[in-house]
Amino acid sequence: MYEITEKKILNQDVEWMRIKAPFVAKNAKPGNFLIVRVDEFGERIPLTIVTHDEMSVTIIYQKLGYSTQLLSEKQAGDFLFDVVGPLGLPSHIRDVKTVLGIAGGVGAAPLFPQLKEYARRGVIVDLIIGGRTKDHLLLVDEYQEFCRNIYFATDDGSCGQKGFVTQVAEQLYQEHTYDLAIAIGPLIMMKNTVLLNKKYNVLTDVSLNPIMIDGTGMCGNCRVTINGKTKFACVDGPDFPAEGIDFDELMVRQNYYKEEENHICRLKLGARK
Ligand code: NAD
Ligand code: FES
Repeated sequence: MYEITEKKILNQDVEWMRIKAPFVAKNAKPGNFLIVRVDEFGERIPLTIVTHDEMSVTIIYQKLGYSTQLLSEKQAGDFLFDVVGPLGLPSHIRDVKTVLGIAGGVGAAPLFPQLKEYARRGVIVDLIIGGRTKDHLLLVDEYQEFCRNIYFATDDGSCGQKGFVTQVAEQLYQEHTYDLAIAIGPLIMMKNTVLLNKKYNVLTDVSLNPIMIDGTGMCGNCRVTINGKTKFACVDGPDFPAEGIDFDELMVRQNYYKEEENHICRLKLGARK
């Protein structure tokens, strides 16, 4: 059992937790993720390790389905049944001088450890952070500690430019050059970012979060096609160079269990109201 030592509500959809897990924390590297189970019957939830110290790891999750709703019911002092990790390959840190981070919504959480690692190695780091509203811009204070410039985009115009992160990126590319962009967020945002970056000759890395079950390369659920070859996001990623990724296939696969997920939410959460 793993103790939740701290919890924060970041906005109406997103929460932050610190979990005591010393063995995981000691071995964690930027890009690694965890699989969390809330109770012994729980679904396995893959979540990026956002930060870690000697004793604990922090996670950020969006209350999207039944299992993340259950996780959200836990408070500081409660325990999680399982915290397995660190899983996945650490981020491949490239030998570059300038990086542009592009975060869409909750994608700001998995982007954070990677971008911080680039900054720690002396790379100049700029960030575009986008969300539905001002309240959906995550980790802004934390990013300010190491980013040279931060640009904001919101769907409703409540902070920064009204529009998508890709629109801000296109404007930036008129004035700045970057060796690499790291884009993390909804699949459609990552797909559109790659298309834009190809136009401006900017390399793109992404982090993928397809449906995962075991997280150890055995079930095949997290498969992704890259340059015509099958890769498993849990053991070959979750970070990948983005250029050859079949995003359209991933978008179809991401919706495979939507109906079942909605059904279980109505059944279990509805029954409690
Ligand atoms: P969201 O739908 O609110 O979008 C966030 C931002 O992405 C928008 O504000 C916009 O700037 C940009 N965006 C959205 N659609 C776009 C488009 N068509 N073109 C260009 N930019 C666009 O996102 P959310 O609800 O906060 O995020 C949830 C998504 O992030 C989920 O789909 C989840 O799977 C994904 N996610 C990915 C990872 C990962 O590791 N890759 C981790 C966590 C979440
Ligand atoms: Fe099963 Fe990746 S989650 S193979």
